[in-house]
Amino acid sequence: MTVFDGTLVGLPVEVGMSDVFDPFRLDGRVACVAGGASGIGRASAEVLARAGASVVIGDIDADGAETVAKQIASEGGRAVGVRADVSRRADVDALVQRALDVHGRLDVMCNVAGIAADGPLEDVEEDEFDRLVAVNLKSALFGTQAAVRAMKRGDGGSIINVASAAIDMPVAGYGLYALTKSAVSMLTQTFATEVGSHGIRVNALAPGLTLTAFTSRHMYAEDGSIDQARYDAFVERMRAGSPIGRVGEAIDQAWLVLYLASDASRFCTGQIWRANGGQALPG
Ligand SMILES: NC(=O)c1ccc[n+]([C@@H]2O[C@H](COP(=O)([O-])OP(=O)(O)OC[C@H]3O[C@@H](n4cnc5c(N)ncnc54)[C@H](O)[C@@H]3O)[C@@H](O)[C@H]2O)c1
Repeated sequence: MTVFDGTLVGLPVEVGMSDVFDPFRLDGRVACVAGGASGIGRASAEVLARAGASVVIGDIDADGAETVAKQIASEGGRAVGVRADVSRRADVDALVQRALDVHGRLDVMCNVAGIAADGPLEDVEEDEFDRLVAVNLKSALFGTQAAVRAMKRGDGGSIINVASAAIDMPVAGYGLYALTKSAVSMLTQTFATEVGSHGIRVNALAPGLTLTAFTSRHMYAEDGSIDQARYDAFVERMRAGSPIGRVGEAIDQAWLVLYLASDASRFCTGQIWRANGGQALPG
């Protein structure tokens, strides 16, 4: 029986905090960030490293992953960059194995890599469907499976997948992307129920519009030329859809990643976290 000890406020004794930010520290922890060469993944890798984690950055863009790792190292952090195509199970397994080989453990797995698709479902070709499922959904399955295997050998850990605000409402032209991300959401919640007893937490982000390379596709006109006015109008439309009048930056998601990676979120699993400026609110 758990007896209430009368403590209504104050810091839990077992955390042993001298500073309120201590539970957010990741010293001695090892994190993998798949899709860490750009945008949300890059910001996450940088924040996790600054919190003290050793970071293994995987990306299909090997040079980009290496550049981020060097940047982190130049600021006194610990990181390596690895080429990994997250749509291939062997690559994802090798990414996690790299963390185990170099550091002997894995505490945090961020499955961030993803790609967009635009156009009505009516026009979706089979190869495009297969590609989106491979990069957006298989990646989350492979990454979570590999991390669970590694974390079961240790003291558990935190797995963070990336869905999208697109899971919250149907939007014409985003159907293929949204259905892969909706599946990531269910994959996350189901894994959380299956692996929680091993001390493994599984959560997902559902970011609202975040200005990264991902959104720069809205910058191009039909003929492929850069159309700044089109991009500005797109961003303005998204800003207007936020009750607080904001669009996101990669760091907005990275702060959430830090929380979910750290002991500060030790009571949180199976949840979809919506840093979206309120954009996804219907009505
Ligand atoms: N930016 C947004 O508005 C937004 C909103 C909701 C969800 N998301 C999701 O956030 C995640 C990160 O997006 P971002 O905005 O940082 O985009 P980004 O394009 O800046 O970064 C995506 C990264 O994934 C990598 N990548 C792509 N395919 C890969 C593959 N097969 N294997 C390994 N790496 C691969 C890219 O090289 C890149 O480094 C994606 O899953 C995206 O769907 C983004």
